[in-house]
Amino acid sequence: MNDKVIILTGGTSGIGRAAALAFARQGDKVLVTGRRPGPLEETVAEHPNIAGLIADAASADDARRTVAKAIEAWGRLDAVINNAGAGAILPLEDATADRIADIFAVNVVGPSLLAAAALPHLRATRGAIVNVSSTYGHKPAAGLSHYAASKAALEHLTRCWALELAPLGVRVNAVAAGPTESGALTGMMGLSDEQAAAVKEQERARIPLGRRGLPDEVAGWIVRLAGPATQWMTGQIMTVDGGLELA
Ligand SMILES: NC(=O)c1ccc[n+]([C@@H]2O[C@H](COP(=O)([O-])OP(=O)(O)OC[C@H]3O[C@@H](n4cnc5c(N)ncnc54)[C@H](OP(=O)(O)O)[C@@H]3O)[C@@H](O)[C@H]2O)c1
Repeated sequence: MNDKVIILTGGTSGIGRAAALAFARQGDKVLVTGRRPGPLEETVAEHPNIAGLIADAASADDARRTVAKAIEAWGRLDAVINNAGAGAILPLEDATADRIADIFAVNVVGPSLLAAAALPHLRATRGAIVNVSSTYGHKPAAGLSHYAASKAALEHLTRCWALELAPLGVRVNAVAAGPTESGALTGMMGLSDEQAAAVKEQERARIPLGRRGLPDEVAGWIVRLAGPATQWMTGQIMTVDGGLELA
C-alpha cells in the first residue's frame, strides 16, 4: 500500500475521476476539486481515500485553499495533478478577449498558481507535478487554436519547471491525452450531443489505433508519472493518444 497525498484538480468526471480512483485504490489519499457539488460527491463516494473540495482551478484563493485543505487533512503533500481543463472549438473570427482569457485562466494560470502554492510542501517530500495536456498541445488543429496554444504553454511550463525544480528534488512531467471518452466534448467544448457524435466519429477515423481512448488508459500514466516508477524522469510529455500525434 502507498501512503502518498495527492491533489487532483477536475476530479468530478472523465480522466480526473479515473485518476483519483486509481490513486485511491493503490492506497494514496486524494483531494479532488471541481466546481459542481453533485459530481464531486459522486467521486468522493467512490472510495474512502478520496476527499473533495469545491474549488475553481482558475482562482488564486482556491489554489491556496486547496493546498491548505490537503495539509490540514493529511499533513503532507506528495503530488499535484493539474487535470482541470477548459477549452472551446473557437475559430479565430469568433475569438474574444474573454473567451481566450477563460481558457488560459484554467489551463495555464491555474496550474501555475496551484504549483506555486504547493511548492513548499512538494519540496519537503521531494514530490511531483503532473500536468494534463493534449495531443493538440504539440499538433496543430484548425478551430482549436487557443485551446491548443494553452496546452502548448502548459507543456513548456512543464519543461521549464522541471529544470527549475530539479535541484529541489521535485519532478514535473505531463500526460498529453488524445481524444478520450469523457464529458469534455459536451462539457468544456460546449457541443450538442449531435455535434459531439460527429466529432467523435471524425476523431476515431483519424486515430491510427482506430478508436478513442478510455479515461483509465490516460489515468494510468498520470499515476505512474506521480510515483516512484518514474523517479528518474522529469520534463517529459508522455503522449497517450492511439498514435494520433503521428497521423
Ligand atoms: N477527453 C479528451 O478527449 C481530452 C483530450 C486531451 C486532453 N484532455 C484534457 O484532459 C483533462 C480532463 O478532461 P476530461 O476529458 O476528463 O474532461 P471532463 O470529463 O469534461 O472533465 C473536466 C474536469 O475539469 C473540471 N474543471 C473544468 N474547469 C474547471 C475549473 N475552472 N475549476 C475546477 N475544475 C474545473 C471539471 O469539473 P467541474 O465541471 O465540476 O468544475 C471536470 O472535473 C483536461 O485538461 C483536458 O483538456 C482531454
